[in-house]
Amino acid sequence: MTEIVNLSNIYKSFGAVQALIDFNLSINEGEIVGLMGDNGAGKSTLLKILAGNFLPTSGNINFNGEDVVFNNPKDARKAGVEVVYQDLALCDHLTAAKNIYLSREAKRFGFLLDHKKMNETSQKLLDELNSSARPGDVVTGMSGGQRQAIAIARTRLSEPKIVLMDEPTAAVSVAQVPVILDYIRSLKKQNHSVLLISHRLPDIMEVCDRIAVMRLGEKVCDKNKSDCNPEEITGLITGAIKSA
Ligand SMILES: Nc1ncnc2c1ncn2[C@@H]1O[C@H](COP(=O)(O)OP(=O)(O)OP(=O)(O)O)[C@@H](O)[C@H]1O
Ligand SMILES: [Mg+2]
Repeated sequence: MTEIVNLSNIYKSFGAVQALIDFNLSINEGEIVGLMGDNGAGKSTLLKILAGNFLPTSGNINFNGEDVVFNNPKDARKAGVEVVYQDLALCDHLTAAKNIYLSREAKRFGFLLDHKKMNETSQKLLDELNSSARPGDVVTGMSGGQRQAIAIARTRLSEPKIVLMDEPTAAVSVAQVPVILDYIRSLKKQNHSVLLISHRLPDIMEVCDRIAVMRLGEKVCDKNKSDCNPEEITGLITGAIKSA
């Protein structure tokens, strides 16, 4: 099995706050890893390190067999990391299509923006996600679910090695949750890996191959889903169970 990500001995502090403490995680090609933990456990910090938003205070990142330093999100994207941020990171004053294509706009003759192509592709991607968002509409005023669909659609413009998703089902309607879970499964079918951060245990149990739990910056569990039970996971998240 090919290992896509190997994080070893990652520490991250923000002043006096130790957000990550000696964190280790390995993710294989085509594997869906669920990452759970209470508020402030360090999940988003970990994602942002892998996405090039933060440098770790110390520790090593091996990506696709090479030791890497992601100095910025561009570096990570170039290596094959696509991200759905918890806050979605959309530009409110731009249209859905412009958000989807942000920083990789389709061009004609190498310099003219190809609005037709961007609108058509955006429409197709939004349709696939069962979203009512329209490519030409500006994001201001859109619902949480529409915004989420735009952030997810962005990850479909490339052939990523891994897609990192921070709470992709938190703000969406009941009907949209299975669509997003199907999308995650389709990534696996194409041999892409997924790191799925979620507070929703049913979603994690449904799609993940492996589940890791963090508490106060440390990993307290990392097992195949078949070896996990929901009560134990809940106990690990709250701290009632120290490790498993
Ligand atoms: N940019 C930052 N500056 C200072 N402290 C930060 C920063 N980002 C995160 N932290 C701190 O690091 C710790 C971990 O935060 P993080 O956002 O990773 O948690 P989380 O597990 O994603 O929580 P949630 O479930 O609420 O999203 C928290 O104590 C948080 O206050
Ligand atoms: Mg978070």
